[in-house]
Amino acid sequence: MREYLEIEGRYSLSGTIRISGAKNAVLPALAATILAPGTFVFTNVPRVSDLYTMLELLNYLGAFWREEGDRLWIDTSQLEQAETPYALVRRMRASVLTLGPLLARFGRARVALPGGCPIGKRPIDLHLRGLERLGARIEFSHGYIKASAPQGLKGAEIILDIPSVTATENLLMAAALASGRTEIRNAAREPEVVFLGRLLGLLGVKIAGLGTERIVLYGRPDPSPPSQPVAIIPDRIETGTYLLLPGLAGGEIELAGAEASFLEAPLEKFRAAGLEIEVEGSRLWAYAPRRLKALEVVTAPYPGFPTDLQAQIMALLTQAQGVSVITENLFENRFQHVFELQRLGAQIKVDGRTAIVSGPTPLQGAEVEASDLRASACLVLAALAAEGRTRIYGLEHLDRGYERMEEKLKAVGARIRRKRDALELGGDQRARARGKAL
Ligand code: UD1
Repeated sequence: MREYLEIEGRYSLSGTIRISGAKNAVLPALAATILAPGTFVFTNVPRVSDLYTMLELLNYLGAFWREEGDRLWIDTSQLEQAETPYALVRRMRASVLTLGPLLARFGRARVALPGGCPIGKRPIDLHLRGLERLGARIEFSHGYIKASAPQGLKGAEIILDIPSVTATENLLMAAALASGRTEIRNAAREPEVVFLGRLLGLLGVKIAGLGTERIVLYGRPDPSPPSQPVAIIPDRIETGTYLLLPGLAGGEIELAGAEASFLEAPLEKFRAAGLEIEVEGSRLWAYAPRRLKALEVVTAPYPGFPTDLQAQIMALLTQAQGVSVITENLFENRFQHVFELQRLGAQIKVDGRTAIVSGPTPLQGAEVEASDLRASACLVLAALAAEGRTRIYGLEHLDRGYERMEEKLKAVGARIRRKRDALELGGDQRARARGKAL
């Protein structure tokens, strides 16, 4: 049995969508609970499958948790394991975020090495070199990273070759319990990194420079959980994805509980493409454009245009007048959605890290397969613009990072249903296949 989304395109959308907490903020926040024994409370927690993978992992380490609506309690006072098994790292690469905090709390950690992933090689050399700078000894055995620091970690100056998001986060968490001063240069500036840094501040760690390329912090040996619940920041990628809806399906959409300041580069591009967007506090409105214009888009670390919105803007640009050029600078294999967009009728050519999109092309519903999380969002957007019915398979990717996407879209008028199929063949193809077997 495989699940798929069935979408009937070309229905104009209108209404309000509430933005969830950010997946990429809740994952490091949960990893940080390893640092301080006690009970943490989080609100605005997105109920996505990656959250439950992280909770399963914390549970394996000895933590207890419970949830009520979007509120989550997690008790890390009885952690007894310092090992993150391959089964969980394979399911979710962000499981490597446990390496820094486990090493800091236990003086040792054993974490499975992540392999390649559908969007590229994604090494973790920067995480490991940074931990070595903090005094850790790193060894590899049987597919696992073994890190140890029996005398504890010591603050140091670390210069990252690339402003990697999870490397910065892992190192901030490791340094939170290290003795003395740590300085991270060429640090990632993403809002999720700032959020994690502020959480560490609430644990009693002195930290400065968040949101800049130079973060300085002074670790402390005995942090304790924050006394108040901590709200997870809004998901800027979910916000960006839904802002594109009127551009593809027509109509007007209001987004509530969002944070526009996290999306300066995307908003500039969306407006340049012809979308009308208004912002007032935590609400954003997007209106269908009269005409979509072609664009040049280059992905870059924050505050540049996010790679996590590259696939979605590509769906939009299939409907824009002219030739758009999209350059993917972060991951070497993040154009998997191109082949599926082509199955819907898009005209896209890929040359290395550049995709050239010619538009507008009328899209037609088809059966497509999502290869990764953001590719699946791109296919949903394209399906909403396509004539007829589209079936999107590979929903396990979508569910990793978008909370109740089909419910949210249905509420604004999309014709979208989650279904199950016993066989992967369509009805008439199935009959023919049966005929052959007889
Ligand atoms: C995070 C996000 C992901 C997003 C990405 C880029 C989380 C859980 N995931 O992933 O959604 O797409 O940022 O914005 O927050 N690199 C190395 N060596 C390393 C680490 C990274 O060479 O040790 C390279 C990567 O291959 C990539 C670049 O650095 O080319 C940036 O990757 P990075 O910022 O680390 O992405 P993630 O933290 O894995």
